[in-house]
Amino acid sequence: MKKTSKQRERFLDLVVYEIYPRSFRDSNDDGVGDLRGVIEKVDYLKELGVNAVWLCPCYQSPNADNGYDVSDYLSIAKEFGTFADWERLKEKLHARDIKIFMDLVANHTSVEHQWFQESRKSKNNPYRKYYYWSKTPKPNWKCLVGGSAWEYDEETGEYYLHSFSKEQPDLNWTNPKVREEMRKVVDFWIDKGVDGFRCDMLDFIAKDFKKGKMYEGARLHKYVRKVFRRANKEGLFLVGECQANEKSIRAVCGEKRKELTCVFQFDHFSIGRKDKFTPAPFSLDELKKTLVKWQNFTQKRGLLYTLFTDNHDQPFYLSRLGNDRNLRYESATAFATIFFLLRGIPFLYQGQEYGAVNPRYRGISCFRDVETIKYFEENRLKYTASELMKKINFGSRDNARRPMAWTQTPPYYGFSRKDSWIPVHSRAEEVNLERDRRSDKSVFAFYQKLLALRRENSALRQGAFTALKKGTGCFVYERKGEEEIFTVVCNFEKEREISLKGVGEKVLSNYASESGNEKYRPYEIAVFKRKIK
Ligand code: NOJ
Repeated sequence: MKKTSKQRERFLDLVVYEIYPRSFRDSNDDGVGDLRGVIEKVDYLKELGVNAVWLCPCYQSPNADNGYDVSDYLSIAKEFGTFADWERLKEKLHARDIKIFMDLVANHTSVEHQWFQESRKSKNNPYRKYYYWSKTPKPNWKCLVGGSAWEYDEETGEYYLHSFSKEQPDLNWTNPKVREEMRKVVDFWIDKGVDGFRCDMLDFIAKDFKKGKMYEGARLHKYVRKVFRRANKEGLFLVGECQANEKSIRAVCGEKRKELTCVFQFDHFSIGRKDKFTPAPFSLDELKKTLVKWQNFTQKRGLLYTLFTDNHDQPFYLSRLGNDRNLRYESATAFATIFFLLRGIPFLYQGQEYGAVNPRYRGISCFRDVETIKYFEENRLKYTASELMKKINFGSRDNARRPMAWTQTPPYYGFSRKDSWIPVHSRAEEVNLERDRRSDKSVFAFYQKLLALRRENSALRQGAFTALKKGTGCFVYERKGEEEIFTVVCNFEKEREISLKGVGEKVLSNYASESGNEKYRPYEIAVFKRKIK
């Protein structure tokens, strides 16, 4: 087993909270969340117990993809506030020992970025080679939102490449000027005092046209090292969004390589779905298998792993794989325990802390996401209207992008005092922070306890992971530190007996009463602690 260095181990102390600013809190009542809204909630984040914030893009953007189409990397979007607001936010977070990570969208810009505006003007424009242009739409790649990855541009009669939507042309990273520009962007934000970056679609920056590979080309390592040279030197946290398999994770996250700290690994998202918009039967034992595989793999090699069930691109895990109606509290807290006591870095997504669920709408007019709308348009003849809406309600990224429901007061539930950019959550009256915190089954209060337990016990951060064999239908594992061993017991949907001997004192559970024997009720969890003799 390879040991994780002390230098790297400190990242296991992080608990990151992801903010999608547009839907977090609107301070000036224009219907769009903003940075002052985030500033208002910094003490709330402290109270919850996180120590880092990942801010989704808040740069200037025409918002074809809610900020992931950046038109100026060195700016703050007007609708989100000013640079002074950003500075205040950073200072307030830092004053409370909370780090700030920015979202680096390095694979593509907006069509409105000045580089692209120049690039499309003529074939001999100095910016032409900042992007990929071709006389023919070849290789025949598909973009991630469906359809061809090439868009014809009348201006010069050529096609440009876009891995995501056509409003997001891919930067040509084979051009050293592009790499230099992006290095400057990274260093600009380091100068501003950020503590790290979440790197959007990072493996797409290296393409292999000859082999027909749209991402993970051999030059990825060289590019990443170049762009993050200073970030690595200064010990910043760098998490990449990559199509990561065992080989590529080792290659890009190995400590000596000076590339990334860790990557998001998405295997657990494919459970319970045939494709993005189609559910499939599943068992939570598949989840256990996946998690054990990655725990063992990363631990053995001294690598860091990311722990997350939710983000701004995914329907809520609780709704997909748990019971979001009559066992909402139990399944929310069970997923929290299963994931966040593993070895790795927890990432919470806004709303998760009060047990947010997927909403439900009848018509496409309630949706804003570019991917969802494209899917709707492309499939309207294939399915009946109700079948199609069922699929969209199941898989749309807008599931996670509804305004936070801070209070129990309709119609805006504390997000704003005006209609928001996207309709409020259809279940906000029932699922909101205020109601949750008043309840004796509060998901928020459970997260506070869970995160405090992690914070106060190094075994739950740095300790070794071992899965215990207790059959199907439950997940039992240990975290062994220098002085203590924690046993984490998570039952799945059905009541069952789980027999354990000598596991010590119970330090956390999600049922108020004891079952009185070794019976575990649906989604019941228990954490036990014992001293090593
Ligand atoms: C991944 C981001 O998480 C997503 O929201 C975005 O649409 C794409 N990358 C394109 O930037």
